[in-house]
Amino acid sequence: MQHYLQFSDLTAPDYAYLFERAALIKKKFKNYEKHQPLVDRTLAMIFEKASTRTRVSFEAGMYQLGGSVVNLTTGDSQLGRAEPIEDSAKVISRMVDLVMIRTFEQTKIERFAQHSRVPVINGLTNEFHPCQILADIFTFIEHRGSIAGKTVAWVGDGNNMANTWLQASEILGFKVHVSTPTGYEVDQSIAGLRSSDSYQVFQDPMQACADADLVTTDVWTSMGFEAENEARKVAFTDWCVDLDMMRAAKPDALFMHCLPAHRGEEVQAEVIDGLQSVVWEEAENRMHVQKALMEYLLLGRL
Ligand code: CP
Ligand code: NVA
Repeated sequence: MQHYLQFSDLTAPDYAYLFERAALIKKKFKNYEKHQPLVDRTLAMIFEKASTRTRVSFEAGMYQLGGSVVNLTTGDSQLGRAEPIEDSAKVISRMVDLVMIRTFEQTKIERFAQHSRVPVINGLTNEFHPCQILADIFTFIEHRGSIAGKTVAWVGDGNNMANTWLQASEILGFKVHVSTPTGYEVDQSIAGLRSSDSYQVFQDPMQACADADLVTTDVWTSMGFEAENEARKVAFTDWCVDLDMMRAAKPDALFMHCLPAHRGEEVQAEVIDGLQSVVWEEAENRMHVQKALMEYLLLGRL
């Protein structure tokens, strides 16, 4: 049984297959052609944090694949009343075919997966957001072809998105230029990297953006870290992706953001709403790549 708890759970050949499959699934969707390999399969979605894109993309995607969805949140299930995660996993996985979880610590999703009879997908943890990077790289490939050998500039927090970009760079053979404020650096051991070969750290975000093929950022304060909001607003002032940073990158560089975004904080409106930004396609692609992922985890290569 294959889980998808972090980006490194799949290999480069697996990703090559998934990107090809996602392109086919997207094309069929655009042509109103049915693609229903998961008839009678059920996905349980467990949300311990808020969501718009992850909720809609998994729910709509599963219905389009012919399956159905059960949605659970901390507030309206026994998860919020301290039922052990192991017991929840044993029960839920006897009734559904696939589970997607958005939660806090990575250890929580790992514990769930250890006691699950069915594949478990990480819909975001404090440490990782693999489904988002799957969509981001698919979006890059659609616009620019293979990401191997390219440079991605990460400007901002050393968070779950940054960690997942780093994992992906090691697997798919591209470089990440990371610039974070002091105190918010990426931690190689948390990111689960084998070495530091695939990334380079820059103090100055402008330097990180130099000659990048893709510039990307994320909120200054991730879900679960709200108490640090005011301190982060001070620390991150210089880590706002602006037109100067985009000018430092390659002329055809793309801009991505997993969303939700805060214009005027981590990104200037002129950048996210500008011509180099592909954020809306990036968001839509969550659904196409996750359909390919769910199909793969349940049916393997077709
Ligand atoms: N990018 C992303 O995961 O968005 P949501 O928090 O809305 O699901
Ligand atoms: N880093 C953000 C991503 C939101 C999709 C968070 O964890 O809140």
